[in-house]
Amino acid sequence: MAEPSSFPIAAVIGDPIAHSLSPRMHRYWLKAARLAGEYGPLHIKPADFADAIAMLPRLGFVGANVTLPHKEAAAAIADETEDAVDAMGAANMLTFLPDGRIEARNTDWIGFIEAVKAEAPLQAAARGRALVLGAGGAAAGIVYALQRERWASIVLANRTHEKAQAFASRFQNDRLDIIPWAEKEKDLGDFDLIVNTTKLGMLGAPSLNLDLVSARKAAVMDIVYTPLRTPLLREAERCGLITIDGLSMLMRQDAPAFQSWFGAAATVDDGLRAHLIKALERDRPA
Ligand code: ATR
Repeated sequence: MAEPSSFPIAAVIGDPIAHSLSPRMHRYWLKAARLAGEYGPLHIKPADFADAIAMLPRLGFVGANVTLPHKEAAAAIADETEDAVDAMGAANMLTFLPDGRIEARNTDWIGFIEAVKAEAPLQAAARGRALVLGAGGAAAGIVYALQRERWASIVLANRTHEKAQAFASRFQNDRLDIIPWAEKEKDLGDFDLIVNTTKLGMLGAPSLNLDLVSARKAAVMDIVYTPLRTPLLREAERCGLITIDGLSMLMRQDAPAFQSWFGAAATVDDGLRAHLIKALERDRPA
């Protein structure tokens, strides 16, 4: 093990990594808490992942966030995994313990549920019916969160039905139902929450076209944050519904790692949001 440095050092690991907002977030929180510390991006290829993870604690790192495509490898490499990691088969936070063991957590679901609680408190308290669109890695965190919070009913639709069924077999319980993609607009008035976890609506991708006029009581959430106001969220606004954008979730996903590694509160406020929006605007393709 390396001599402990005079301040904690952590990183986010991915491939690609240049556009990750995590370094900006952690540095914002370090400054706000007037703490010494460092948090940077590390571009690591899948073939080098295991070697890099073995080396980081020796270099004095206290932990690393892990993003695509390493989340499954991060779960597999850990000595200790929490329930969320076992359920999703993926981890986004590795902590290097003083005794040399590696602890894996998955905080994606926390970002989602905290965003719902902050921005749609009535729906969060009701814990009623949720419609989840998509069946990829992002949907896994969201379904895990909804089940863990004991929402009454979760309905999932995915373009590729077989993928939805495979997803459901992993998360199956009596509160998860799969419906065909073509029926995703049916009975929208019954839902308290509608979440897009697909890439639809992202810059360069087709829009997700849902007619939300009948969705009278739903909060509408999009995990896409480029652009921030997706066609789905604009449609929700037009219908007078509460909207929750992808930045709301993202800001809350990284907070547990900051609190754990740097030992201070990670405040999610308008200043952080403005700081991240500035970075998104700077990175936007001309
Ligand atoms: P992530 O891990 O980020 O969630 P992913 O595993 O690639 O990414 O999942 C992407 C999701 O977006 C999937 O649910 C995918 O649907 P399929 O399972 O049918 O591929 C969905 N998706 C991507 N492009 C789509 C499109 N044009 N129309 C509908 N769904 C789409």
